[in-house]
Amino acid sequence: MDALEALMTRRSIRRFTDREISHDVLEKILRAGAQAPSGGNRQPWRFIMVTDSEKIKQFDQDGKWQSFVSSAPAVLVACANPHDTWEKYDENDQCWVLDTSAAIENMLIAMHALDLGAVWTLSFSKNVVRKVCNIPKHWQIVSIVPFGYYDMDDKGNKRMRPRRPLGEVAFLDDAKTPFS
Ligand SMILES: Cc1cc2nc3c(=O)[nH]c(=O)nc-3n(C[C@H](O)[C@H](O)[C@H](O)COP(=O)(O)O)c2cc1C
Repeated sequence: MDALEALMTRRSIRRFTDREISHDVLEKILRAGAQAPSGGNRQPWRFIMVTDSEKIKQFDQDGKWQSFVSSAPAVLVACANPHDTWEKYDENDQCWVLDTSAAIENMLIAMHALDLGAVWTLSFSKNVVRKVCNIPKHWQIVSIVPFGYYDMDDKGNKRMRPRRPLGEVAFLDDAKTPFS
């Protein structure tokens, strides 16, 4: 699968099989994340690959959040150490959010190219995830990504979400000329 095909066919997957994900595959995903661009090449991201099912179950123990998180065989917890950015820029700089988001997208694409499904997730308890994964207080938790192999025939999983017409979100030369 080439890069453009991967970008154009990725979709969020929220139902997984319990097939194990090898260490080699986890490493490929992490290397794709660490290859993202970052402001000043500070690489402020910190990635925690959670494969321990006891820990994953604790992420939503009370069933208050989204059930697909607890049923995933693996969850990537994407964090950042903003101090990496602030050592070069000032403490108002938000580059660490952008850098870590770029890394997350890299990893979503890598997962898709490796036949895994995944969903970028913001709706979870940061306090719980911090406690379960022993995340230091000076790291920010940016997002989590539950992922795993999935049933390719699952119609619900296969559904592509629509996009706005390009002319509504893209322009040529000025903001009043829709791209067509
Ligand atoms: C920053 C961000 C936060 C998201 N949070 C959630 C979430 O908490 N739960 C969820 O089911 N999907 C979440 N999503 C996935 C979006 O719903 C999904 O990307 C969007 O509907 C487009 O669908 P697609 O990814 O299949 O193209 C999130 C996506 C992004 C980029």
